[in-house]
Amino acid sequence: MLSVEQNDLITRIGPRTGAGALMRRYWQPAALVDELTGNRPVKPITLLGESLVLFKDDRGRYGLIDRSCPHRGTDLAYGRLEDGGLRCAFHGWLFDVEGKCLQTPAEPEGSNLCANIRQKAYPVVERSGILFAYMGPGAPPAFPHFDCFVAPDTHTFAFKGMIDCNWLQSLEVGIDPAHTSFLHRFFHDEDPADQYGKLFRDKSSDSDLPMTKIMREFPRPRIEVEQTSYGMRIATLRQISDANMHIRITNLMFPNAFIIPMSREMTITQWHVPIDDTKHYWYAIFTSFTKPVDKAHMRDQRLKLYQLPDYIPNKNKSNDYGFDPHEQEHETFTGMGADINVHDQWACESMGTIQDRTREHLGQQDKAITTYRRLLRQAIEDAKNGGRPLMVLDAQSAPSLTGPAAIDGIGPTGDWKGYYEKTDASKRKAASWANGG
Ligand code: FES
Ligand SMILES: [Fe+2]
Repeated sequence: MLSVEQNDLITRIGPRTGAGALMRRYWQPAALVDELTGNRPVKPITLLGESLVLFKDDRGRYGLIDRSCPHRGTDLAYGRLEDGGLRCAFHGWLFDVEGKCLQTPAEPEGSNLCANIRQKAYPVVERSGILFAYMGPGAPPAFPHFDCFVAPDTHTFAFKGMIDCNWLQSLEVGIDPAHTSFLHRFFHDEDPADQYGKLFRDKSSDSDLPMTKIMREFPRPRIEVEQTSYGMRIATLRQISDANMHIRITNLMFPNAFIIPMSREMTITQWHVPIDDTKHYWYAIFTSFTKPVDKAHMRDQRLKLYQLPDYIPNKNKSNDYGFDPHEQEHETFTGMGADINVHDQWACESMGTIQDRTREHLGQQDKAITTYRRLLRQAIEDAKNGGRPLMVLDAQSAPSLTGPAAIDGIGPTGDWKGYYEKTDASKRKAASWANGG
């Protein structure tokens, strides 16, 4: 249970808040590369509570600048993309990707008004299908050399979706390994041939047991949480017989992403990025360790479920997430269909826009959440005191952060560490791009 002040400290993300200052010390997903294509790559976005406009100039450079024109405050999202920048539609002032004012064309010839104008601007880089922005002070940190960033473009696919609540609720669902046996329970097992691109629907590695059966029949996992240089490693262990256990290794990439196995082929790296205090996007990079990702298939699967341009899920609060009591009785634990993202979304959103953590009661099953909140509070403190918070990497330290192992399989009771290390090593050996990773 937290106090109101403690809850505010770790949930609110405006520039002058504890968590907001911390989140600004990291590269954060701002948009999918797919959103900045076409004839006029200009898109208004709200990120960490700030109203911004993202654009790609006529030289192919990405810019992210304040949305309100510094002349008289009109909306730059309606601007003209030309002459090396974005031109305001009101009086034609032109801004480049660094926020520099290049022209004030209604001013007298020879005016140097431009020299005194600087629009707020944040750097943007492209990584694995996502445009990341850095909104913090000083030089941006280095990216870790994790799988999702070092895999070739052919082996990654990125997508996003909106969730109508505070970011921390979803992050905490992502590091809660017990809920899958309930929230994502299927009463019947599907044909695993239909598993491509889906989570918890494959067979587990090293066995013929469908994941749905393991989750359904072994609902009381042992959870071991280990602090690491990048955040946390979470081992979720389900004893399925005297000799064997189901071993699932997931990771928290501090501060707001997790890395989990999706299927025998792919892992998911998923960020939960605040739009403002009460809404956020999940951004995921799917990384394949076997064949190139079938991006068209992955995209089609997901485009059917979301309304663009805002990536709002078709099933949401306004239609009761498709809740069907008959289905809840006979097919799924939630009665909300087979898409587990809908289940997670319901869980997060139904806690309220910002969960009131003064009323919660955490148990043993929540130990990853407890550990994470401790790390978060420590990092907020470090940022406030001018220190270097966890995972604010420099160019020297970034290359040492590789992997991490995200594994799901059946191994021998008593040696889950040996099992996941061996399984991870053989997975990397088989993947051409991850050799020695
Ligand atoms: S308000 Fe933008 S140029 Fe005048
Ligand atoms: Fe879930």
